[in-house]
Amino acid sequence: MWVASRFYYFAKDILKKAIRYPVNDKNPIWFGENAFSQLKTFIAKGDFSSIFFVVDENTHDLCLPYLLQSLGDLPRCEVLEVEAGEETKSPEVLVQLWMVMSELQADRHSLVINLGGGVITDLGGFLAGTYMRGLPFINIPTSLLAMVDASNGGKNGINLGHFKNRVGLFQNPEAVCVIPDFLETLPEEELRSGFAEMLKHGLIADAEYWKELAEFDMDEEVPTEEMIRRSIEIKQAVIDQDFREAGPRKVLNFGHTIGHAIESLSLKTENPLLHGEAIALGMIAETHISEKYAALSDAEAREIRSVLEQIYSDVHFLAKAEDLLELIQGDKKNKGDEFRFTLITQIGNGVVDVPISMEDVVEAMTLTKILA
Ligand SMILES: NC(=O)c1ccc[n+]([C@@H]2O[C@H](COP(=O)([O-])OP(=O)(O)OC[C@H]3O[C@@H](n4cnc5c(N)ncnc54)[C@H](O)[C@@H]3O)[C@@H](O)[C@H]2O)c1
Repeated sequence: MWVASRFYYFAKDILKKAIRYPVNDKNPIWFGENAFSQLKTFIAKGDFSSIFFVVDENTHDLCLPYLLQSLGDLPRCEVLEVEAGEETKSPEVLVQLWMVMSELQADRHSLVINLGGGVITDLGGFLAGTYMRGLPFINIPTSLLAMVDASNGGKNGINLGHFKNRVGLFQNPEAVCVIPDFLETLPEEELRSGFAEMLKHGLIADAEYWKELAEFDMDEEVPTEEMIRRSIEIKQAVIDQDFREAGPRKVLNFGHTIGHAIESLSLKTENPLLHGEAIALGMIAETHISEKYAALSDAEAREIRSVLEQIYSDVHFLAKAEDLLELIQGDKKNKGDEFRFTLITQIGNGVVDVPISMEDVVEAMTLTKILA
């Protein structure tokens, strides 16, 4: 584990205006080429003393040069580079980042720009949200998963031991810049991982979108900007109703109760699953539960499973029921000892907080063939 800081350059003085951009529950999302000019304007107006870019080793090499080139003159810039991968979303890395920022004299007029996948937007958002009680930050997602999901919605955080996202905060970035060009260097398996969250958006909210995605050939094509926008719209519409996840926002957790347990256990193995792969298995299992508890029709359940099993045909995972149940029990979405799930009643309609018996969770995991 390491954290490096690199100095980039001091840019010439920028126009200083005493305008701060307040953090609120609604944040703009800037798309494509336009995003660069909007970000440039934001920085120029922001009177920032310095900019801290949070990147991992891949986005440092593959995305940062393009971003810096596109932004032109900037205030003092520092680059905080961390190792790529889920293990980086840890308290140890966070502490190191706090310390490096302090050594580099980040102050309340600094801006943090998170350039990376969901690990970077989760970690960097938490870093920015906690350093000096909160600095403004911008998310620039570079993975499909971060574009359609992790970078927007204001959830930031890190893992604690094997509990996913156990520590974190709700805070929106000042803006999210979605630049699909970054997907050009994203490995195929990462594209497929992000696609799982898009499928989830269709399943919980938009049957037509689900159909479009189900017919989409992930082996041949990269999801279009239109599709990315649709996913973001669905997520945003949910969040606008319930930023702090008191109720309706839980609909976004379809596939995640079991999916997170799978992901956490798989992280301890030699070949951990990607986030979306674990969520795909979680959605298959939770589709079984939806049939039993949410009156999802047999035909739709079969359709969902067949699409997921075809796209993620090579994704396999086995664990002991008790290990998975322990993690599911510790899931933030549960109340006390009760299992509560987000399910779908039909394609395009999710429901939240459905109490489920432990036996039926085990049965669904057995049917999904994830029990050792
Ligand atoms: N906050 C939320 O609402 C939310 C929602 C969903 C997922 N998440 C979190 O997101 C994380 C997963 O995100 P992820 O799948 O993006 O993982 P990730 O950040 O680890 O990125 C995946 C891999 O792709 C590389 N990469 C990213 N962009 C690239 C690019 N343009 N070119 C080449 N390589 C690139 C990364 O370096 C990494 O190796 C999980 O920790 C998950 O819990 C958060």
